[in-house]
Amino acid sequence: MNAELFFGGAPEASASASGRVNLLGEHTDYNDGYMLPVATPQRTEVALSRSNDGHFHFYSATLDSHVTFAQDGSAPSGFGSYIEGCIRLIQARGIDVPPLRVFCQTNLAVGSGLSSSAALEVATLRALRSLLGFDLDDVALAQVAQRAEIDFAHVNCGIMDQMASSLADPDTMLFIDARTLEHRLVPLPPGTSLVVIDTGVARKLAASKYNERRSECQEAARLLHVTALRDVTDLAAVEALPEPMRRRARHVVSENLRVLEAIEGIDGVRFGELMNQCHFSLRDDYEVSIPELDFLAQVLREQEGVLGARMTGAGFGGACVALCRTELAEQAGVAALKAYDENANNGAKGRLLIPVPRA
Ligand code: GLA
Repeated sequence: MNAELFFGGAPEASASASGRVNLLGEHTDYNDGYMLPVATPQRTEVALSRSNDGHFHFYSATLDSHVTFAQDGSAPSGFGSYIEGCIRLIQARGIDVPPLRVFCQTNLAVGSGLSSSAALEVATLRALRSLLGFDLDDVALAQVAQRAEIDFAHVNCGIMDQMASSLADPDTMLFIDARTLEHRLVPLPPGTSLVVIDTGVARKLAASKYNERRSECQEAARLLHVTALRDVTDLAAVEALPEPMRRRARHVVSENLRVLEAIEGIDGVRFGELMNQCHFSLRDDYEVSIPELDFLAQVLREQEGVLGARMTGAGFGGACVALCRTELAEQAGVAALKAYDENANNGAKGRLLIPVPRA
């Protein structure tokens, strides 16, 4: 069903939002640290109108799934819980939200670790802001979106994805300080572009391991007598920690240092090295990679013009990102995908997400 059919005409308000690809600063946001995502060119669209039967009706054209519930009811888990979360949190701010018909669709690959959930939350909040005219700046909007994810989708995430979705651009990195929420756009190294390929492996174990890593980081911070691992800047300081806290903290501390170096205007060659180091640190110290991510990142590194490659997002499946010389990016992406599809051990099929394949 298209939007016109769903609304029986034009919707009263609509908005869209991107997902994100993180270039450096992985698993740093919940340690009050730094990160450098870009927005995806793919976007999620949300359109809405007042409902005239006292019920909420949500429809996802991407999933062809319909959710209906009464004003005092709630959406079942699934795409509806993200939308409902945004609505309930806006109501909790004292804003009157009438029952609505909400239509959403996306060309973001759901489950590739590019934050399709943050895109849905941010697009929903933008559409609500446009319909109801309340004041909510883009940082506050990201914070509400994050709360929707934590309280309604029950994912204990940090702030990166929603900040990126709310504030980032596709061709410029967004430096984010998760403690202060200070943020600014930083250009990609001159002459470089991104290649992003999905491994085709769904993110199993992701939620339980994510929470485990968060607790290990908290424990490391406690043992080091700091509020969060962001407060440790000397790598030597973590070496006396018991395992696995030593390696977890080493990843976070070294990763923050990589981001801080990357915003100093380094060239593509050095930026690529930092991305490779990030991958090895996530694989060996943080232990959130899987063989397919390691293999795909390696295949990407072997392509002409690729300066560095790493898994992106929380891990345990999802996509890899490479920094590439612009003129070779498309050919590197196509060749890496072919090599991955031919040689991935478990028969997984990859998907080129960036550059967006021509139709
Ligand atoms: C997920 C979370 C983010 C962040 C990343 C890892 O995407 O939603 O908050 O923690 O994992 O960097």
